[in-house]
Amino acid sequence: DIDISKEYLKKINKIYIVACGTAMHAGLVGKNAIEKLCKIPTVVDIASEFRYRDPIIDDKTLCIYISQSGETADTIAALKLAKAKGAKTLAVSNVIGSSITREADYTIYTHAGPEIAVASTKAYTSQVVLMVILAMYFAEVLGSYGGIEKLKADILDLPAKVEAMLDETDAIKEFANKVYTEHDMYFLGRGTDYNVAMEGSLKLKEISYIHSEAYAAGELKHGTISLIEDGTPVVAVATQDALLKKTISNIVEVKTRGAFVMAVTNEGNTEIEKTADYVIYIPQTNAYFANSLAIIPLQLFSYYVAVGKGCDVDKPRNLAKSVTVE
Ligand code: G6P
Repeated sequence: DIDISKEYLKKINKIYIVACGTAMHAGLVGKNAIEKLCKIPTVVDIASEFRYRDPIIDDKTLCIYISQSGETADTIAALKLAKAKGAKTLAVSNVIGSSITREADYTIYTHAGPEIAVASTKAYTSQVVLMVILAMYFAEVLGSYGGIEKLKADILDLPAKVEAMLDETDAIKEFANKVYTEHDMYFLGRGTDYNVAMEGSLKLKEISYIHSEAYAAGELKHGTISLIEDGTPVVAVATQDALLKKTISNIVEVKTRGAFVMAVTNEGNTEIEKTADYVIYIPQTNAYFANSLAIIPLQLFSYYVAVGKGCDVDKPRNLAKSVTVE
């Protein structure tokens, strides 16, 4: 849908990804792909912070705005601000012709179909995949990454892998049924697994009203581990092979303090079974697309917890699908 020149991309020295809520979490995964595949420094910011903090922007900055609805007031205001400062703007939206797409210089669509439930699910997975595709496109134009063809082939396998995961939900349901009466839960991960953990934690808060926090697993020992006690539910995400051993050692740390752990990892990483109480396997894919698979067990977990508590999973209290006011 877009045509961005090599000259322009070569000129860019910084990318901002700006969004709210779930869309911001998708931006964090996008940052990783852009930095790794294109080597362009990328900063992710919350729209309601970005717009009031006088960000450093000029005509060498590309600002990307992710918004499922395309109507979020803070995200649109943040886009107008960057435009006024001379940056090019790119919108990632699910709604054709939405306000943000009318303001942006470029638009790409997630084409996920209408998302009705307030808590975002398929919008997130498609935003994550589209952000990696965008990074692949930039990398192809720049010639900065050699493995693009393999990544393209992997995209085509994703739908079948998602379907296979939706057929294997018993263990997730069982873990949810054991913990839905708890008051606090923790989500752990490193790298983009931490970003997925943040989205899993948000989903749980939104639809089950259970307090939860996502922590970068290596940061736990600097404070939060004091909150782990006998029976505290912990969901650990470990799909990034380069970080697997480190995350497993963090799971051991929380297990030693009594945590009750569900781990999400890649097929074949069976050593994690020695540590975690429940292990959910995601099909093998590359590190960039593992995020869009790893979120699915976390979304299902929140769903089963919310159903267990008798909550309305489609219309949680106090939340709106689209926040068009400040
Ligand atoms: C609301 C919704 C969230 C969503 C956020 C951003 O708070 O409840 O689910 O992530 O807005 O929405 P957007 O449409 O801009 O992606």
